[in-house]
Amino acid sequence: MKILVVGSGGREHALCWKLAQSAHNPEIFCAPGNAGTGQIGRNVHLAAEDIDGLLKFAQKESIDLTIVGPEDPLCAGIVDRFEAVGLKIFGPTAAAARIEGDKAYAKKLMRDAGVPTAEARIFEPTSVERAQRREAGRDDNDVKPEYETAYTMARTYVTSREEGVVIKAAGLAKGKGVFVHSDPADGLRTLEKIMVENELGAAGSTVVIEELLVGREVSLLALVDGSTIYILESAADHKRLGDEDTGPNTGGMGAYTPSENLTEAELEMIERDVFVPVIDAMRRNGITYRGVLYAGLMMTPGGPKVLEFNCRFGDPEAQPILMRLQSDLVDVILATIEGRLADVVLQWDQRNALCVVMASGGYPGAYEKGKTITGLEEASQVANTMVFHAGTRQLGGRIETNGGRVLGVTALGEGLQAARTSAYEAVRKIQFDGAQFRGDIGMRVSGR
Ligand code: AMP
Ligand code: GLY
Repeated sequence: MKILVVGSGGREHALCWKLAQSAHNPEIFCAPGNAGTGQIGRNVHLAAEDIDGLLKFAQKESIDLTIVGPEDPLCAGIVDRFEAVGLKIFGPTAAAARIEGDKAYAKKLMRDAGVPTAEARIFEPTSVERAQRREAGRDDNDVKPEYETAYTMARTYVTSREEGVVIKAAGLAKGKGVFVHSDPADGLRTLEKIMVENELGAAGSTVVIEELLVGREVSLLALVDGSTIYILESAADHKRLGDEDTGPNTGGMGAYTPSENLTEAELEMIERDVFVPVIDAMRRNGITYRGVLYAGLMMTPGGPKVLEFNCRFGDPEAQPILMRLQSDLVDVILATIEGRLADVVLQWDQRNALCVVMASGGYPGAYEKGKTITGLEEASQVANTMVFHAGTRQLGGRIETNGGRVLGVTALGEGLQAARTSAYEAVRKIQFDGAQFRGDIGMRVSGR
């Protein structure tokens, strides 16, 4: 059996690692992959967004199953394209992936479905405004405030707020499109950057502004086969760059599973009030959801509320979750694609797992690549630990940095504390110039 994994992050290394343990004995390809995936299977020099190239490759190599890691190709319709030529692929279609790719759509869907989420207003350019821009020979994204009522209205709205606001670019922005302002006045500058200076390009032409929720964050990922929803073990990630949740938001600086203090009753409530209604609402609109549906939730005093949906495995959540999964991942994925999830019972390692991300100096801003990484061999000898690669590249006998998030050092342990101790023991053995990581993964700041 030949399997193609699309992507190049820690999530994709973890997927390849888990797939390689399957009784199906798959031959694994990863496009474009990293130094870690290259040690498990064959890296293919095709970008995750190069759908034409990936399709040709899958046909030429007779790939039996393609698994898509990141959101960009999913939102761009890779699943639709593969399925149209009869290739088996894991992930939602473009219409279903819109739940991540368009936050304004996701918000409306949640409202229609009665899913608890932050109160929000959506500011989008009107069709008249879009037409005016086109007439003026401007690009659709080239917003000018003089005739941009969406911008004016967003400003008025933010000015009227007394409580904190969260401003979100509606489109895909590589995790950089969300701005949390406890003082709403600071939001005005964010609006200017997104809606006037077009810092995020087309992703920011529509903006969602919502109330700032307070509570503990939980990531719940579910497999969905079109009808059956199977919620995986809970996880939590740390989005901010610095210890004690300081600094800018990142793609995620660490994660652990299970999330602490999530009761069976809360889990049932989230399944009933979040997953079931949103999948039903999509189905009513003629959209069948197949793949991973990830709900980012805030556990507020008023109950769980959805912050966002993602149409894929989380990164870094996938690393600790897949380390705990004992079932054969190939079987699980085939069952999801083929609508047989109702017959599946997943087996989990009862231990905790925790992942510490090591990132390049400067991340999430500009950073340099090409720094030699040492100590990987020593780190891999720490018991119950896996060093998942993200932005790495193999050059002869040397492995060097090749991205913002470089490694996801992940450990299993009896209790969160034991997992944390092993992960940090391995982290301390790894060096590269400028490396940064949080020292408090798995240690929640009280009240968050
Ligand atoms: P998102 O990509 O929408 O999940 O947002 C990224 C991060 O921003 C989340 O993980 C939260 O930490 C934070 N965030 C998003 N929406 C809100 C909100 N309404 N209230 C408070 N924090 C939020
Ligand atoms: N860890 C957050 C995400 O995958 O979007």
